[in-house]
Amino acid sequence: MKTINIAIDGPAGAGKSSLAKALASKLSYTYIDTGALYRAVAYKALSLRISVCNNEKIIDMLENTDISFRHINGLQRVYVDGEDVSGKIRTNEISSAASTVSAIPEVRSFLLGLQRDIASKENIVMDGRDIGTVVLPSADIKIFLTASSKDRASRRYEEQKDTSSSVSYEEILATMIQRDKNDSERSVAPLRPADDAVILDNSGFEPQQTIDAALRIIENKINVI
Ligand code: DC
Repeated sequence: MKTINIAIDGPAGAGKSSLAKALASKLSYTYIDTGALYRAVAYKALSLRISVCNNEKIIDMLENTDISFRHINGLQRVYVDGEDVSGKIRTNEISSAASTVSAIPEVRSFLLGLQRDIASKENIVMDGRDIGTVVLPSADIKIFLTASSKDRASRRYEEQKDTSSSVSYEEILATMIQRDKNDSERSVAPLRPADDAVILDNSGFEPQQTIDAALRIIENKINVI
């Protein structure tokens, strides 16, 4: 059976995961957060005190690393060597480390099979940076979701400000700008819209406006709603 694949790419903080979750719930598809896989690799490196700039050691580490994910009550959980790390990979430190390890080609190829495998088995909404360009170039729908860096940083700030790992708006903005630069300028699978992606700029939008705009894009392409 052919599965339907919806790819949502874009920079950090554009609201990809909120949009992808909402679409998956509306369409009864499975939501796949691919950033969590890169975060899981970064988590293991940091917990072994391996520098994320040491490509050789990271590549060696992958030899003995098992990353997997599972859905429990509709929520994606990510495992590193059997340990559920889902709650531990959302810090600012892991965000930066994930961006660094994601530029290593061997890390990307290590995670590629996992992503393609699930997309071939289920109807999915997958979010990331290179889903429309590399992971699922034949995806049925490709949306490149973006917004101004100030909008994106203030949304992240609102999400994090009441948590134990909260940081200042200025720090979030600086990390975000650096991360966008790393993700866009790396030589393998850089962050960029696929030629056939629809670009959705949601600067100034309320969350529901983004969902409505994406549903219109999907409606125009395939008859699933
Ligand atoms: O979406 P996120 O913030 O959880 O992603 C963390 C990092 O992982 C991001 O800075 C770049 C990398 N990433 C990637 O290179 N390709 C993907 N498909 C998803 C994430």
